[in-house]
Amino acid sequence: MREQLQAVLDTAKKEILSTNEPSRLEEIRVQYFGKKGELTQILRGMGKLSAEERPVIGSFANEVREELEALYEKRKDELEEEQLQAQIDEELLDVTLDKRTQRIGHRHPLLKTKEELEDLFVEMGFTVVDGPEIDSVENNFDALNSPKNHPSRDLSDTFYIDAETLLRTQTSTMQIRAMNELGAPLRIVSSGRVFRYDDVDDTHSPMFHQFEGLVVDKGISLANLIETINIFVKELFGEDMQVRYRPHYFPFTEPSTEVDVTCLVCRGEGCPACNNTGWSMELLGAGVVHPNVLRNCGIDPDVYSGFAFGMGIDRIAMVKYGIKDIRLLFENDARFLGQF
Ligand code: PHE
Repeated sequence: MREQLQAVLDTAKKEILSTNEPSRLEEIRVQYFGKKGELTQILRGMGKLSAEERPVIGSFANEVREELEALYEKRKDELEEEQLQAQIDEELLDVTLDKRTQRIGHRHPLLKTKEELEDLFVEMGFTVVDGPEIDSVENNFDALNSPKNHPSRDLSDTFYIDAETLLRTQTSTMQIRAMNELGAPLRIVSSGRVFRYDDVDDTHSPMFHQFEGLVVDKGISLANLIETINIFVKELFGEDMQVRYRPHYFPFTEPSTEVDVTCLVCRGEGCPACNNTGWSMELLGAGVVHPNVLRNCGIDPDVYSGFAFGMGIDRIAMVKYGIKDIRLLFENDARFLGQF
């Protein structure tokens, strides 16, 4: 029986060590340790041994069983480990490969300009407010002291939805909305799309973007307006910028002004871009809020006064980035927009 056990030990050992298949390993287990397994059979036959033989053979049989079991467990672990490693190798992602498929975009030059303007005014204590592109004729014209015969109210200048509703022609609607909602004192900026019946060319588009500001408080005058605009222009374009105020007319401000700044192309020398004037024209419109406008919003013009300003974001982006054609901003050609 000792020889029998030794033979089982030798062959089982060889088989366990030489198999690479978990399923084959399982077969080996059944073949030796299963209910009808070879080792099990031998152990069952122990009863027939004599009293002297039994402890000797018994302890040898136990050694054989323990050795084979340990060998089996170890091989099982090894095969599982191998299988896992093979799976990992197969599923491994090489993250250094083909980085061209992911292109990261960036902000549109108009959005960048708008955010830069907002940041500058927020630093000066202004709050950013938002309002609708479709608004009332009242907010766009009447409350802004724009007389019924004003040419900008004409059908050939403005997109009407019906007699009382239109696509706003200016962000000045937000002056009215802000004063009605927030009352005085206030300090707000607001921006967004505006619409006018313009034919498209290199400097005109029926849709463009404006940035509006309004301050209402006690004792506000033209001096505050000029100081604020001067600071803003120098912050945006540089310390060496000159600012020029030309008298102008807006129905909702009195006095009113249009603001020019040093031509960014020639820095004031005179060049084709500025028609040899040295000035970038009409960067913004501004003025002291007309008393009628305050009154229309329930604010007493004998107590409060204010100033307002409005500018084209597209215009500023074009000056800032040297873009000559406004249409390029709206065509969404990623090759063009990707430059800024
Ligand atoms: N809304 C005016 C325009 O579109 C600009 C402006 C705003 C002028 C605020 C004065 C004050 O031309």
